[in-house]
Amino acid sequence: MKLSLRIWRQKDRNTPGRFVSYEVDGVTPDMSFLEMLDVLNEDLTTRGEEPVAFEHDCREGICGSCGFLIDGVPHGPRRHTTVCQLHMRFFEDGDSLTLEPWRARAFPVVRDLVVDRSAFDRIIQAGGYISAPTGSAPDANAILVPKEAADTAFDAAACIGCGACVASCPNAAAMLFTAAKVAHLNSLPQGQPERDERTLNMVAAMGREVFGTCSNHGECEAVCPKGIPLEFIAALNRDVIRAAFRRRREPLHVIGAAQHPAHEDMGESHSAQKESST
Ligand code: SF4
Ligand code: FES
Repeated sequence: MKLSLRIWRQKDRNTPGRFVSYEVDGVTPDMSFLEMLDVLNEDLTTRGEEPVAFEHDCREGICGSCGFLIDGVPHGPRRHTTVCQLHMRFFEDGDSLTLEPWRARAFPVVRDLVVDRSAFDRIIQAGGYISAPTGSAPDANAILVPKEAADTAFDAAACIGCGACVASCPNAAAMLFTAAKVAHLNSLPQGQPERDERTLNMVAAMGREVFGTCSNHGECEAVCPKGIPLEFIAALNRDVIRAAFRRRREPLHVIGAAQHPAHEDMGESHSAQKESST
């Protein structure tokens, strides 16, 4: 297979980026999308050019490192599939594809297709833990967890923190990610003592990180590679109201009201973007 690629090249967050066109040859249907980029990078390196930077680690769909837009869709055209698990057999010989990084003000571009997602880490730091002593393993197992709660926590824990939900949202909201992380611990008996503080603190952290506000478009659920459902956002909204009422505090963030879109300005329109061929 031979493909034409338009790839966003950007040296660092302070340097303007642009699309550059490449041809990549010798792609086989069994290659993953990242292996196809490895072929391109070997070719670029051989020619003395800078390889395309993209993030990856496990290449098994479990670590959440990888992710960029393929023709405007986070992780590409296959539902419930990370870009590292996307195989070239789902593309045609001669296809033209456009690759660009997540576009969100909270995820500044580090280089090429790599963005800084440490904003997610700071949301986790605000409440994604329990401080109750659980003792040794037998003590922890002595706390019985209802099957329904265990299933809900397990479904929520499937979130790999990739950021596709933010990239797909017209408001660049991080609600699906935050809702999954809150639901994971709020569903379990061990998570109950800090449930209210966790909910309010993680939602407040989300607001501080210049993510937009959820307006119920549902794009996040559509592109999430782990199938995290919108029901977790509804559960988060209920938990915020409950926590604010119980703590006699005002909600820290107005959830559900559209505010300012927070997508990063690309600086130039697609039609005006400079292209260069190599
Ligand atoms: S909710 Fe889905 S899309 Fe968002 S970070 Fe988690 S796994 Fe990725
Ligand atoms: S590289 Fe780990 S999920 Fe893709």
